[in-house]
Amino acid sequence: MVGGGAAANDSLPLLVRSPCPALNTLANHGYLPHSGKGITTADIISAFAVGQNFAADTVTGAAAGALALCSAETGVNCTMWDLDMLDKPHEIEHDNSLSREDYNFGKDNNTVFSPRVWGQVLRIWRGARIIDFQLAAAAVSERVAVASHTDAPGWYVNASASSYHETAFYISLFGDPVEGNARQDWINVWFEQERMPFELGWTATQRETITAASLTAMEAKLEAA
Ligand code: HEM
Repeated sequence: MVGGGAAANDSLPLLVRSPCPALNTLANHGYLPHSGKGITTADIISAFAVGQNFAADTVTGAAAGALALCSAETGVNCTMWDLDMLDKPHEIEHDNSLSREDYNFGKDNNTVFSPRVWGQVLRIWRGARIIDFQLAAAAVSERVAVASHTDAPGWYVNASASSYHETAFYISLFGDPVEGNARQDWINVWFEQERMPFELGWTATQRETITAASLTAMEAKLEAA
């Protein structure tokens, strides 16, 4: 959490969320603690396996990064962390996000979905039913172009590599881990409402398990698109 500490326990938020739509969705469905608090690496591995059919090697690095952020914030050696600890700018959090505002000088708004920012992505996609590698990469390029010109002077740090990595995540989640081709209606529900699009037919096991190797291969295709 960025900003002044709480004066009393009853002013602490009951429920916290992160800048990551995947983590927020898993917490909203209860695959992670619904409060968003006290998350262990074992919780992460289990939630991503059960909720989204991801192999453990896709999330262990980020889970270690979250523990490190917690340790830096609290000064103790964390074994668990809270979702809002991820909002610290220019750490795991980065600029040119697809679905939320960049942090920008103390505006603590980077954990919340932004229709304004997401609208830039939707304009690029023009209602396409299927998001292929070209459209997914074009969304990253658009956000890099807009954020680099509109973020507060001196703030913007290019994070296209992180965005390609996160794009490989959601394209694999809602398409094929090799071919991509994700359904836009599923993607939109996930980003906009931070829940899984079950009512539109999505299931965690409709495709192969997503692995670190499949994500790395997809990132290369996105960068070349
Ligand atoms: C412990 C595991 C994870 C941690 C700590 C984590 C953390 C984060 C953070 C801090 C961001 C914000 C980046 C930004 O500033 O835009 C982010 C974004 C994102 N994460 Fe995660 N993440 C994790 C796992 C995953 C997984 C497995 C997926 C797969 C679906 C995923 C999908 C995404 C996507 C698509 C974004 C981009 C959001 C945007 O640009 O608007 N994350 N993640």
